[in-house]
Amino acid sequence: MTAPRLAGRRYLVTGASHDSDIGLAICQRLAGEGAQLVLMGRRPEMLEATRQTLAGQGHELAPFDLYQTDDIVPQLQALAQAAPFDGVVHSASFQGYSPLKTASARQVDQYMGLNFAAAVMLGRAMSHAKVARPGAGLVFIGSTAALMGLKGRTLYAASKAALASATQSMALELAPKGIRVNFVAPAVVEGRRAREQFAMLGEAQTEALRAQHPLGLGRPEDVAAAVAFLLSEDARWITGTVLPVDGGFSAG
Ligand SMILES: NC(=O)c1ccc[n+]([C@@H]2O[C@H](COP(=O)([O-])OP(=O)(O)OC[C@H]3O[C@@H](n4cnc5c(N)ncnc54)[C@H](OP(=O)(O)O)[C@@H]3O)[C@@H](O)[C@H]2O)c1
Repeated sequence: MTAPRLAGRRYLVTGASHDSDIGLAICQRLAGEGAQLVLMGRRPEMLEATRQTLAGQGHELAPFDLYQTDDIVPQLQALAQAAPFDGVVHSASFQGYSPLKTASARQVDQYMGLNFAAAVMLGRAMSHAKVARPGAGLVFIGSTAALMGLKGRTLYAASKAALASATQSMALELAPKGIRVNFVAPAVVEGRRAREQFAMLGEAQTEALRAQHPLGLGRPEDVAAAVAFLLSEDARWITGTVLPVDGGFSAG
């Protein structure tokens, strides 16, 4: 019998709290493939709730606020003392609508701080030999919002687009260390966030949004499957990419 694809590997997953849609699915998929996880989010009880659902043993909790940007590198160095990481998945993000007529500098900081600056600092931490093993992978959970204009979502979209751009530069800089960097761009997946979005949009706009997904809305598990692939040896020659996982949303 072949060993599970991620057996013996150690990954940090941000946005791992139990009430996330995609973060939870990523944790369950990676653990199901044999990985040992360090779960990051702000609420320890929600991280513990995720841990209770995971296959395997030895998953750790790392309660931490990623807006503490200057502390991210020392935090990862401390976590890597137990063992260096085989990768990081940055799923935590600041989401929402920010119409231009009410957009504020504080909102710019909220979107850019978590969605972009924290990601850059996670990449910086992974450039340290004691933090990341050669062959390690970084996967940023972006959004199709990075690829196109969206009314009312200027700040969210721009923060994800900045991260998509950074993915390419970081991939070039980390390649000599054998570290790969990729960006997954989901469209709308079924779950709590989608329900919130539909409640705000109303029936007609919701139907229009659904119709923009030729294969229908996705499931958090569809995104998790792409993440597991990108972290695995099967993706050893893939870096610097933006991978839409969107049921055809960005094809139209
Ligand atoms: N859901 C969708 O339809 C969809 C579509 C496209 C892209 N995406 C992207 O997919 C990713 C996951 O989305 P999701 O909807 O599953 O996530 P979510 O429900 O918004 O969960 C966000 C997670 O991030 C954590 N978090 C928030 N602020 C944090 C901070 N300052 N420090 C540390 N952790 C923090 C939260 O836990 P705590 O509150 O415990 O910290 C939570 O677990 C995001 O990057 C999102 O942009 C989602």
